[in-house]
Amino acid sequence: MEIEKCRKIEEAAKTWTLEAADLLQKSFENTLTITYKSHIADLVTNMDKNIEKFFIDKIQRTFPDHKVLGEEGYGDDVQDKSGIIWIIDPIDGTTNFIHQQSNFAISIGIYENGLGIMGLIYDVGSKNLYFAKDGEGAFLNDFKLPRLDKTSLTEAVIGVNATWVGPNKRINHENVQEVVRKSRGTRSYGSAAIELAYVASGKLDAYMTMRLSPWDFAAGLILLNEVGGLVTNTEGQPIKLLEQNSILAAKPGLHEEILNHLTN
Ligand code: IPD
Ligand code: CA
Ligand code: CA
Repeated sequence: MEIEKCRKIEEAAKTWTLEAADLLQKSFENTLTITYKSHIADLVTNMDKNIEKFFIDKIQRTFPDHKVLGEEGYGDDVQDKSGIIWIIDPIDGTTNFIHQQSNFAISIGIYENGLGIMGLIYDVGSKNLYFAKDGEGAFLNDFKLPRLDKTSLTEAVIGVNATWVGPNKRINHENVQEVVRKSRGTRSYGSAAIELAYVASGKLDAYMTMRLSPWDFAAGLILLNEVGGLVTNTEGQPIKLLEQNSILAAKPGLHEEILNHLTN
């Protein structure tokens, strides 16, 4: 992508993200409208919908030839990876947004013909912007993130949700238990985007989960790619951008070690 075009997209994406974050913070002064999607733990608020519409309106006015794939379904019916696609999660960590008013993020991955151009994960509560641009590295606010060093499981802190440590239909939980037991410790933050940003910035050494949608991981993949983090599904296969995937994101060395336990 030509530099000027890329710069314009970056400037717009950053400005709109900060504006959207402001709307989210201000929304705590009003009563949220909360409804369920597929089940009682699958929550959505008026703000998830409003923020997605906010981005779509801005993108359509400024970049009419770009497409939007958004979690709440107000964007385009994206069937293939052609062109420029903004993959947006207006609030990643809606349960945290409702219950804790912290640890939720706006996540935006921008792709051109399937290649990651730019990723933004804005942790609204802490005001931390994780940003990456293809070939130019990843940043936490103004700080350029270093490339990730190799590490081993015994020295690693791993992001994993308790769901996968007990019997479940997606993975052999005994393999997950083994990873947990051998690690230095585990954490669970309730926002996949933040957890991927934490791996990219070295706050976590790995993150694994069994079912994410494109809007949960689109930005995180670009960040991780810029710092040398490895991301596959939990069987070691490449991630399919427009589908649901299991995800194993980790530092070099550790990725292989965890994969060996999971695929045992
Ligand atoms: C969810 C969060 C959560 C992850 C779920 C996601 P949402 O996204 O990222 O941490 O475990 O799989 O669906 O619904 O809050 O946007
Ligand atoms: Ca999400
Ligand atoms: Ca969401």
